[in-house]
Amino acid sequence: MKENIENIKNEISLYLAVNNHISRKDLFDFKMNYLGKTGSISALSKGMRDVPAEQRPEVGKLISDLRTWAEQVFADKEEQIKKAELAARYASERIDVTMPAQFRETGTLHPISLVKKEIIDCFAGMGFEIFEGPEIEKDYYNFQALNIPADHPARDMQDTFFVTEDFLLRSQTSSGQIRVMENKRPPIKVLSPGRVYRSDSDATHSPMFHQMEGLVVDKGITLCDLKGLLDEFARKMFTSETKTRLRPSYFPFTEPSVEVDLSCHNCGGKGCRICKGTGWIEILGAGMVNRKVLENCGVDPDEYTGFAFGMGLERIAMIKYGINDMRYLFENDVRLLKQFKD
Ligand code: PHE
Repeated sequence: MKENIENIKNEISLYLAVNNHISRKDLFDFKMNYLGKTGSISALSKGMRDVPAEQRPEVGKLISDLRTWAEQVFADKEEQIKKAELAARYASERIDVTMPAQFRETGTLHPISLVKKEIIDCFAGMGFEIFEGPEIEKDYYNFQALNIPADHPARDMQDTFFVTEDFLLRSQTSSGQIRVMENKRPPIKVLSPGRVYRSDSDATHSPMFHQMEGLVVDKGITLCDLKGLLDEFARKMFTSETKTRLRPSYFPFTEPSVEVDLSCHNCGGKGCRICKGTGWIEILGAGMVNRKVLENCGVDPDEYTGFAFGMGLERIAMIKYGINDMRYLFENDVRLLKQFKD
């Protein structure tokens, strides 16, 4: 019996010494061979029956010591395995906080969106509302109501994409003037951004481009109000020194009509490459709303007057950011787009 006890002890010690990297499951199975209900240490206890009565206290103590010793040895080994597992997990999950971070690419607003936003901010500050009309428009809103009847030679100013005989891709946001006046009585102060389409394509023209239309209708509105508003706009959008100049022009829906120039932000008016030596840069068309247009919308031209203006956003962006070819604005090359931040 004593020998048996000794053997078991040796067996366990040897096994644990040799199997240093044993798994927890294997350790458990091995432990059950000894300490399980049918394990060999439990068998020793059952064998006590056969031990002579006088030796029983001694043998009993040896068995109980063996059990205590084995429990302790297995517990120690288990603890050791747990620690090793944890250390391995920590090693594999280690995060090197000194590694360079992976930055997420963030987009930037397109220069057209930036300019649009800035213009809207400027006019919203002066009490303008925003109106957006449809891009597929009726001939009536794009031309007829704007005093450009069928066969009128002014239609040639804008090469139009027709969808059907009566519907077209709007060639100007001026169509919004009619839609606004049909739905709202003066006083009117509306800004209308949108895409417009013309069959035209070169370094300064694109078949799709963006416009911003402005319309003010009320009692006693004059060309001076237009000039004052545009002066304020030019100072906010460009520099506080920027001046505006009105030149006579022609649009069927305004009378009188003007072309508006800005003093060149680059040379301050002296003349340079950007303003082609003139000191001025053309930025928009405008004028007093034609009486016929007011009448077409049911607004009495003897009671109300108004002005309208329309500008191309690509053109404003090109002037503001010094871009010399409009096609850059449509190529979506991120190297160019990234340079513009809000
Ligand atoms: N719609 C004109 C154009 O596209 C611009 C304009 C708008 C002129 C409003 C006068 C008044 O050229």
